[in-house]
Amino acid sequence: MRATSKPISRLDGALRAPGDKSCSHRALMFAGLAEGTSFIEGLLEGEDVKDTAKAMAACGADVERISLRRWKVTGVGAAGLKNPKNILDMGNSGTGARLMMGLVAGQKLKATFDGDVSLRSRPMGRVLDPLAEMGAKNESNGGKLPLTLEGAPLSAIEYTPPHASAQVKSCVMLAGLGAIGTTIVNEPRKTRDHTERMLRAFGVTVDVEEKDGGCRISLEGGQQLTATNVDIPGDPSSATFLWAAGLLVQEGSVSVLNVMENNTRDGLVHAAKAMGANLNVVKTGEAGGEVITTITSIPSSLNAATPELAIVPAMIDEFPLFGVLAAFADGDTLVTGAEELRVKESDRITATVNMLKANGVHAEERPDGFIVRGCGRGGVPGGGIVEACHDHRIAMSALVMGCAAKAPVSVDNVSAIATSYPDFFAHMQALGADIEQG
Ligand code: S3P
Repeated sequence: MRATSKPISRLDGALRAPGDKSCSHRALMFAGLAEGTSFIEGLLEGEDVKDTAKAMAACGADVERISLRRWKVTGVGAAGLKNPKNILDMGNSGTGARLMMGLVAGQKLKATFDGDVSLRSRPMGRVLDPLAEMGAKNESNGGKLPLTLEGAPLSAIEYTPPHASAQVKSCVMLAGLGAIGTTIVNEPRKTRDHTERMLRAFGVTVDVEEKDGGCRISLEGGQQLTATNVDIPGDPSSATFLWAAGLLVQEGSVSVLNVMENNTRDGLVHAAKAMGANLNVVKTGEAGGEVITTITSIPSSLNAATPELAIVPAMIDEFPLFGVLAAFADGDTLVTGAEELRVKESDRITATVNMLKANGVHAEERPDGFIVRGCGRGGVPGGGIVEACHDHRIAMSALVMGCAAKAPVSVDNVSAIATSYPDFFAHMQALGADIEQG
């Protein structure tokens, strides 16, 4: 379905961020592996997470939705998961697919994985290679889905992923849980650490040594997870769309409540502040072992500022939206060191540049990033139709751009938004956005 976001002058209100997608996937997987029953509160009920819930149920965990965002999972514990009878369809989700592969290999299962047209185009060799080194067998379509993976008694490895990737790290760690010996992952640049934190909540010992912006994670195989209740904190990536829209319009104030603060995820907050964004972050409590904040944005004039290389992994999902902020800034913005964007739900370098160009913004691709010539506050022409390319973050970024451009911005197909933020339209409309679907 198509959607069009019309320019508005004001956005106002306070909303609770939806549950974090990364934490929601992990909570379902770890609860399904654990001994006993876990209750998960605040689960993100997006399509990606629902696909993980189905995959865990297909592997023998008892997964039940009790009420809105409250789920009960009874894990199999030492009895072990079973081979799924049917193909595990991971939909649009790289996280669901890659983490489930680690889990399947570590539990000595055999499973066939598939996904939608976007997921079928994404590289899986980055997880199949270390899993093969540990002893798992696979048959794939040239390193892509559909593929069949077969676990075996695995041996621990020491692995340095060639890409800064929390999915690869987490896959190797999950396989390592079922391996003989101590699995070590070395990260030259630290990526999101939800697997490390949440495995600890399920009683697993995970050692992390941080040094020079990177870290060394080690985990002894054969550890049993114990059920625990998990409170999922709000998703800082989903929250960015709301507070960024609040920065770009002329009047009002937007507050997003329940936002997880984690220094592996807050790159856009730092990047926006460096551009002069009037953003206020206040700590309000804790959930699921993470600090919770309220983020308030006030309309701001932005100046172009290039994000430092060190914060790229902490804003890896935010570059399409960062491209929109750069379009409303004064001056030119250069993004480098972000080649991983090429293998996200879409090629996000091409998709971001095309989104901007379709709306009259001068932008250019670089092999590892892009350049945007800022139009200044209120200066983005708009009026274009953006191709979402099966990518929720491209679709949402374009609709945010439409709130503050001179002319409406349309998106050809917004169905992917349901993968990560099913309440996006309701939330934007509650703030005063004028977005029409259909
Ligand atoms: C995720 C890791 C990131 C991110 C994705 C979620 C995770 O991918 O882009 O949306 O939950 O581990 P990479 O680890 O491949 O960078």
